Amino acid sequence: MITFGKIKSVKGEISVPADKSITHRSFMLGAMAEGSTRVTNPLMSRDTIATMEAMKALGAEFIPAENGFVVVSKGYRAFNEPSDVINCDNSGTTARLISGLIAPAGVYAVLTGDDSLRKRPMKRVIKPLSLMGSRMEAASNGTLLPLTILPSKMHGADITGETKSAQVKSAVLLAAAQIEGHTTYTEPASTRNHSEIMLKNFGADISVNGKTVIVNGGRPLTGTDAAVPGDFSSAAFFIGAALIFEGAEITIKNVGLNETRTGLLTALSSFGVKFELNYYENTIEPMGDIHIKHQSFRGGKVDGELIANLIDELPLLAFLGLFADSPVEIRDAHELRVKESDRIAATLYNLNQLGAETEEFEDGMKIYPLKKEPVQAHLRSFFDHRIAMLSILMCKRFGEKVSVDEIQSVDVSFPNFVSILEEIENK
Ligand code: S3P
Repeated sequence: MITFGKIKSVKGEISVPADKSITHRSFMLGAMAEGSTRVTNPLMSRDTIATMEAMKALGAEFIPAENGFVVVSKGYRAFNEPSDVINCDNSGTTARLISGLIAPAGVYAVLTGDDSLRKRPMKRVIKPLSLMGSRMEAASNGTLLPLTILPSKMHGADITGETKSAQVKSAVLLAAAQIEGHTTYTEPASTRNHSEIMLKNFGADISVNGKTVIVNGGRPLTGTDAAVPGDFSSAAFFIGAALIFEGAEITIKNVGLNETRTGLLTALSSFGVKFELNYYENTIEPMGDIHIKHQSFRGGKVDGELIANLIDELPLLAFLGLFADSPVEIRDAHELRVKESDRIAATLYNLNQLGAETEEFEDGMKIYPLKKEPVQAHLRSFFDHRIAMLSILMCKRFGEKVSVDEIQSVDVSFPNFVSILEEIENK
């Protein structure tokens, strides 16, 4: 069991690591494009390294350059057949998106992943890609990794998405961009739109009409510059820290503020939380600084369309329920059950350890404010990076009576989480 000394507060200015979603896509589009793509400030973590290795297996070169890489590729028309199984490690984004990226390439490829990823649903991408003519076989009656992609002749299609998932949408779009013909994808809720923005930048014929994305595929993509902003989902832990530690005041620099990602700010505003955003000018993805001070706040209900825009921040929001003046209720979040862990079960396990009053729903949870400090709590990360980071925050908030079983999993998205926290903590 790991413990941390109790800290009094957090104060100062930090930068968080680069955006995981945008780094994955920069590496993938760099490989799909012809020529050189300069990727500046990519996130180097377990998840994004899995994507980089997969792109190398298809023939892309990653040449180290100042603060990043130049990805050099002959483009999607010249992808190699991978000579071995592709290991997506813990990364759902890698597995889902490259299913779509490889499907039209006319190669035989096998994808697998770690224990957690091999339990996560793949049917959600297999189904729409099959409607576009792909041939795929997967374990467990076509639902789980390992997944085999067979050469096929794919075609455009009109697809209505069944899952509120940017990963599913992106798998379809990365395939559609390569296929001669017209594809539309209509999503059930607006999810993160980094793939749409980046495909356009790389020269794809793509447009968006409400919740429908339209792609006329088969055009070559051209290498370009991709500068990766700080990850809002990593910044979120420090927004949370500001609300958890009395006297806190934090500025987080260079954060991606794409509205399809910042649902946490919308939810917190509805709880009465005040913060400042200072946007930078002339950036492809909206970007800026977040300034927030400790303050008291009420709880509230978070549900409906907003859920897709704070999907990775929902466990944090649940933990904030401990410190709110009234309960926090999260609904319509069934997707949390199939993340790196069952994040409803994992979050509630830890909150209950801390002595909180909670309620569990199939699609969410309700957390009541903590009435007294925990006497003793053994938290578990469930080998899920985001649950591990929240556990670390609780350890630092309550001191050595709270412990966590492992924290190595933070390497998946935020390898230097503890050292950045240490930069701004007051003991
Ligand atoms: C991601 C999309 C989300 C998110 C994940 C990253 C992406 O998954 O949870 O961490 O980069 O597209 P879903 O789209 O499946 O909800």
